[in-house]
Amino acid sequence: MGILVTGGAGFIGSHTCIELLNDGNEIIVVDNFSNSNPESLNRVCRITGKSIKIYHLDLLDLESLEEVFLVNQIEAVIHFAGLKAVGESVQDSLKYYKNNIATTIIICELMQKYSVKNLVFSSSATVYGLPDTVPISEGFPLKAINPYGRTKLMIEEILQDLYISDNEWSITILRYFNPIGAHESGMIGEDPSGTPNNLMPYITKVAVGQLNVLNIFGNDYPTIDGTGVRDYIHVVDLAIGHVLALDKTLKSTGVKIYNLGTGKGYSVLEVVSAFESATGVKIPIKITNPRPGDAAICYADPKKAEKELNWKAKKGIIEMCEDSWRWQSRNPDGFKINEESENPRLIYSEDFLIPNN
Ligand code: UD1
Repeated sequence: MGILVTGGAGFIGSHTCIELLNDGNEIIVVDNFSNSNPESLNRVCRITGKSIKIYHLDLLDLESLEEVFLVNQIEAVIHFAGLKAVGESVQDSLKYYKNNIATTIIICELMQKYSVKNLVFSSSATVYGLPDTVPISEGFPLKAINPYGRTKLMIEEILQDLYISDNEWSITILRYFNPIGAHESGMIGEDPSGTPNNLMPYITKVAVGQLNVLNIFGNDYPTIDGTGVRDYIHVVDLAIGHVLALDKTLKSTGVKIYNLGTGKGYSVLEVVSAFESATGVKIPIKITNPRPGDAAICYADPKKAEKELNWKAKKGIIEMCEDSWRWQSRNPDGFKINEESENPRLIYSEDFLIPNN
C-alpha cells in the first residue's frame, strides 16, 4: 500500500516525501511541476536512497488521475498541490478557484470511488485572516481575506461536508504557519519562481547577491520593533508533523484540525538579525509601506498538535536560517541546473500517463 502525495515536488511536499520514505512508506507522487522542478524529487531519492513513483500530470486531468488509482494500491492521500501566491490570487481569482478547489473535488471523488478515505490536507494560517488576539488556536473565527485564503477555507468546509455525507472518511487538516529552512543536506529547499513574495526566500536571494535590498513592509505595527511578527517553522519539523498526522488519520475517522507552528513569534528585524548572526552575511534593508492585508502579529497556539499528535517543533530560528542559507548558497539558481540524474531508482517519465494525442 502506498501514500499518494499530490504536489510532492514542492517545498513542503518534497521535505515530507523524505520523512515518509524514512518512515518506511511507499510513495507515489503526482505533480504537474507548474511551480516546482522534478529535480527536487531526484534529490529526495538521493538523500534517502529510496525510490519514488512519479506521475507528471495535472490533477484536473481526471482520466489520467483515475489511472493512478487503478494501477496503485493507495492507502491515503496527502494533498499539497495548489497555487499559493496571494497577490496573483487577487489578479486571477478564477485560476485559484479552479486549481485549488476543483482539483480537491476531483481527488476526493476518486478517493471516494476507490474507497481511499484517508486524507491529509495542506491548509494555512491564512484562514484566520487578521486575528484579533494571539496565540491563535484552532477554534478562532475563520475569515480569509483574499482569494487564495478563501480557497483554503472553502476546501476546509468542503472536507467537513464530505465527512458529514460519509463518515467512513478520516480527514486531517493542517494549518501551517510560516515554513522556512531546508533539509540539512542543503540539497533541497524553497525554489520560488520569479521574485519571492515571502520573507525568507527574499532574504536568501539578497544574501546570494541576486536582489539588492530587503524591503521591510512597514515599521509602525504595534510590535516589539514595529515590524510584522510571524511564527516561522522549520520545514523539516512541518514534514514530521505530516507523518504523525498521517498515522493518526489512518487510525481513526472524522475531521481533525491542527495548527502547525512553534508558538513563538519573531519580527522581520529579528529574523534579519538571526540570519546575519547564523550566516555572517549582512542584509541591506529598506523600510517601505506596509503590504495591504498583512497582519501585525500572527503566531500559533500549537498545544492541540502536541497533545493529540505528539508533535512539537524542535528547530529554532538560528537553525532555520542556517539551513535556508546552506540550500540557497549551494543552489543560487535553485533546481535549475538540469544535471543528468545519477540515480537509476528514480522512475520518472514526462509521458507517463499523458494521453497519446
Ligand atoms: C504570506 C501570505 C499568506 C500565505 C503565506 C505562505 C500575504 C499577505 N500572506 O504570509 O497568505 O499563507 O505567505 O507562506 O501575502 N515581509 C517583508 N518583506 C518582504 C516579505 C515579507 O517585510 O519582502 C514581511 C511581511 O510584511 C510579514 C513577514 O515579513 O510581516 C512575513 O511575510 P511572508 O513571508 O510573506 O508571510 P506572511 O505574510 O505571513
